Amino acid sequence: MNIFQKYLETEAAYSAHNYHPLPIVLEKGQGVYVWDVAGKQYFDFLSGFSAVNQGHCHPKIITTLIEQAQKLTLTSRAFHNNLLGDYAQYITQLFGYDKILPMNTGVEGGETAIKLARRWAYNVKGVPDLKATIVFAKNNFWGRTMSAISSSTDPSSFSKFGPYMPGFKIVDYNNLEQLELALQDKTVAAFMVEPIQGEAGVIVPDDGYLKNVSALCKKYQVLFIADEIQTGLGRTGKMLACDYDEVKPDILILGKALSGGTYPISAVLANDAIMLQIKAGEHGSTYGGNPLACAIAKTSLEVLIDENMCENATEMGALFRTKLGTIQKKYPVLKTYRGKGLLNAIEIGGKDQNYAWEFCLKLAENGLLAKPTHGDKIRFAPPLIITKQQIETAIQIIDKTFEDCKNYM
Ligand SMILES: Cc1ncc(COP(=O)(O)O)c(C=O)c1O
Repeated sequence: MNIFQKYLETEAAYSAHNYHPLPIVLEKGQGVYVWDVAGKQYFDFLSGFSAVNQGHCHPKIITTLIEQAQKLTLTSRAFHNNLLGDYAQYITQLFGYDKILPMNTGVEGGETAIKLARRWAYNVKGVPDLKATIVFAKNNFWGRTMSAISSSTDPSSFSKFGPYMPGFKIVDYNNLEQLELALQDKTVAAFMVEPIQGEAGVIVPDDGYLKNVSALCKKYQVLFIADEIQTGLGRTGKMLACDYDEVKPDILILGKALSGGTYPISAVLANDAIMLQIKAGEHGSTYGGNPLACAIAKTSLEVLIDENMCENATEMGALFRTKLGTIQKKYPVLKTYRGKGLLNAIEIGGKDQNYAWEFCLKLAENGLLAKPTHGDKIRFAPPLIITKQQIETAIQIIDKTFEDCKNYM
């Protein structure tokens, strides 16, 4: 019997069927590697959807987690704790904002940003009450709450979950004419956008897109909200993907790697003109800003900086794409590859347009875990601490997998 069978059966029997994971059962992780319950080692080229940028079980983050967990974990915001102020000062100075609003999951960060934008629109821009609209890009992904699915253009996200949240509009991603037209509507509070669309398949917009987005938002008095939950914190080779265009969003949302994959921590950053529109009792969360999260987030950010993970992501990402180019010459079934830093994706095409799942199963058999999306796309996003030698070994695995699959694709 397959060694994973009993785990798969128990999970299927008692846990909701809202995911379709690869049939691999993991029990250990360290750095760029994970191990399954039989002790087989894999490269982790998903990194928990970019939450594990610092590598699995980073020793400094785990030490912080253990030490703080033994001291104080949660006070709720009914009382002060001794770490929130220090963490808030650190993260706001790091990213250049007046204030942080701490939350837990990424999607709560998105919800918070939208609430802030709506409140700002009523109080500052003068939009009539209940009329504020938020513009999103087609194929966006920012989570699974009612607001997130109401702004989604993917039927598997929103179908049969209505009625939907009103006041959301969609424009094409990477289309400035459409955006400008939408922003002329005086009810628009904000444009919320991913600098690179991650879940859509690592869609990289034209150079300068964000710079133009930022300028248009300024021109029409609309807030520019950057969802850097997946692209931020070194993933694309800079602390923020917005840094490539030298733009500063009015509202910045961070999550995922803010905890190095240990704990749900998100953050919304903005200046006082926006943040102070929300008053005591008008927003919050039991866990947001708890001392354990504050300690972990600060260490997670320090580790990214101290260990030059942005620089490594830039270098290793460039090397990885060069090597993918070499593989493409051997196997034209590798249609395209793209990405920035260590957020990359390939598209494979041949007889079977839905071969990505089978390809990922073969990659796993060969020792590398990656995630298929949309039938023919596979994202490659290893932890940012990956070394040159590890990239070379991973490339050998990908090359071998193309060889193994060449008669089937
Ligand atoms: C860009 C982006 N925003 C928001 C989210 C939601 O984050 P969470 O799953 O922590 O709620 C995700 C998750 O994949 C994401 O990729």
